Amino acid sequence: MVSGVLTDGPVVLVQGPCEGLPEPVRDYLVELEPERIAALGGTGAVCADLLHQARDVVAPPPSGPDCDVDKCVALTFDDGPSAHTGRLLDTLDELDVPATFFVVGQSAQSNPDMVARIHAEGHEVQNHTWDHPQLPDLALAQQQEQYDSTQDLISGLGVRDTDQLRPPYGAWDSNTRALGVPLILWSIDTRDWETQDAEAIRAEVNANLHDGAIVLQHDTIAESVDAVPGIVADLREQDYHFVTVDDLVPDAGPGDLVYSRGNVVDAAATEAAQLRHEHEYVVPPVTTDVG
Ligand code: NI
Repeated sequence: MVSGVLTDGPVVLVQGPCEGLPEPVRDYLVELEPERIAALGGTGAVCADLLHQARDVVAPPPSGPDCDVDKCVALTFDDGPSAHTGRLLDTLDELDVPATFFVVGQSAQSNPDMVARIHAEGHEVQNHTWDHPQLPDLALAQQQEQYDSTQDLISGLGVRDTDQLRPPYGAWDSNTRALGVPLILWSIDTRDWETQDAEAIRAEVNANLHDGAIVLQHDTIAESVDAVPGIVADLREQDYHFVTVDDLVPDAGPGDLVYSRGNVVDAAATEAAQLRHEHEYVVPPVTTDVG
């Protein structure tokens, strides 16, 4: 019989040929129940099951939060990579927080190593167009070129994630939706470009915080990077978990408008809804002079 397997309670291993027990697993079991481990024997099925559980304890499978149950937020950073991106990555690494980076193609082209680093450190790299135009000013073919050139570049760097687009300024039209990827907008605008003040940016997140939020920041703005430790501390204190956009909204489809986990406007929404949102401009232009 098995009781309280690999818990703080008693561990009883009386069945199963456990030859081939991986050393870390054996050591773990020996530490828990030094007497029982020496007496393994019996049917294979039980032992295999125990081994499986033991391996999970010794080397737990990667398991993120379950956003159906846990409170989740996605931090997103636009317009980079820039001179501040490295410092942001250091901070996120220290805090063990994943984020989503919407990079500008021409900035990624001039700083490919930083794009590779974003990806290597477990963050998402997504598309913020080639040179940050107002997409509704462009015809479909030009919008497509903005998207494709950036996508080709990040693919060429070997860092392509799922296909998403964040339209600059949150401005999109029916052609943008016709590009065939989810348009990732946001539900908390930190207005970091306006205040350029870390405490104000942090306060803006707190004032608008909700489960499933997508937070908009810019890694081109030093004060926005400065604000990250405070934001993370505030949210963790309220039991929020940090996830990438893809993990927050895994089912977003082509042309969907994604504001937050709980607010996704399906591409199949009515024509009236499309017209209402047409040429929607959410934020004024942001400087993208990132060198
Ligand atoms: Ni932008």
